[in-house]
Amino acid sequence: MNTDTLILRRPDDWHVHLRDGDMLAAVAHYTARQFARAIVMPNLAPPITTVAAAESYRNRIRLALPEGTDFTPLMTAYLTDDSDPGEIAHGHAAGVFTAAKLYPANATTNSAHGVTDIANIRPVLERMERIGMVLCVHGEVTDTNVDIFDREAVFIERILEPLTRDFPALKIVLEHITSQQAAEFVADAGETIAATITPHHCLINRNAMFAGGLRPHAYCLPVAKRERHRIAVRAAATSGDAGFFLGTDSAPHPRGAKESDCGCAGIFNAPYALEMYASIFEEDGALDRLEGFASENGPRFYGLPLNEGTVTLQRTETKVPDVLDAGEAQIVPFLAHETLGWSVRHQSPSSSRT
Ligand code: NCD
Ligand code: ZN
Repeated sequence: MNTDTLILRRPDDWHVHLRDGDMLAAVAHYTARQFARAIVMPNLAPPITTVAAAESYRNRIRLALPEGTDFTPLMTAYLTDDSDPGEIAHGHAAGVFTAAKLYPANATTNSAHGVTDIANIRPVLERMERIGMVLCVHGEVTDTNVDIFDREAVFIERILEPLTRDFPALKIVLEHITSQQAAEFVADAGETIAATITPHHCLINRNAMFAGGLRPHAYCLPVAKRERHRIAVRAAATSGDAGFFLGTDSAPHPRGAKESDCGCAGIFNAPYALEMYASIFEEDGALDRLEGFASENGPRFYGLPLNEGTVTLQRTETKVPDVLDAGEAQIVPFLAHETLGWSVRHQSPSSSRT
């Protein structure tokens, strides 16, 4: 491999927040610049719970991109206590819902309508298991008596482990893992359990939120943890284990909503996500495993075809801007002011590999 040019099969982002309205218009192109497909999170206000709402949101995403953009939004259903197995299965069969998302109620941004007790969605999970539909999970308990840094580990013990026993064939993605416990759980689990990993959870530990003062742009959920957890998550990403794949969890919020007395959770990394992953894999001597993580493990788990075509990265410095415009608002990107070692040159949707 020429180390100044990196040519990868076109990658996908298996977890992204594209939002709606002006914010959608401002951010969608960043994701489409790098990725062929993305699993689009349904936590709008109101959330995407029906097939009709997902179809209409999918259209708005397509309209937000320049004509001719070769990008496929893969939609998800937001599960609630009242989700109807028939609606979820119908949406899956119709090619609208690629997956369904479990947000424990009030775990994170726009999750007030989430599931209050996993028992309430058993009929949905039974149906999903039967039809082979993927369940995406925000893996944190919401019990305020549990320390925020332990909420993922406690979720694995209390909810996920029993869930995998009750639904052994259900395909589950533990989203945006942040802890050694999660990395170990997924590594040790069978082929029905996978995890997505964000660039930020490979790059920062919890100190980043308190570096010389309170740093709202380093705050997301699940929250970054101790250094040993960052190391474990990063090692999982670069391990070559097919159970780990790329999911940015890019979650833009207007600057004012982050820099506030009650700042929103979410890190906006979409503009240079692939560049960040390339640096991570290179630093860890694992560049040869980047393509599996970014372009192969995800579609194989979801049972979708691998993308044709390629994306090219070049060893050219990219300076991350301080701030980006989003309609009337501004968004501060992850690693603002910093310089990255790679830049995405172009995507060739249809070309065969050379
Ligand atoms: C996400 C958001 O802002 O929608 N925030 C975040 O910190 N990741 C929600 C989520 O995925 O938890
Ligand atoms: Zn998310």
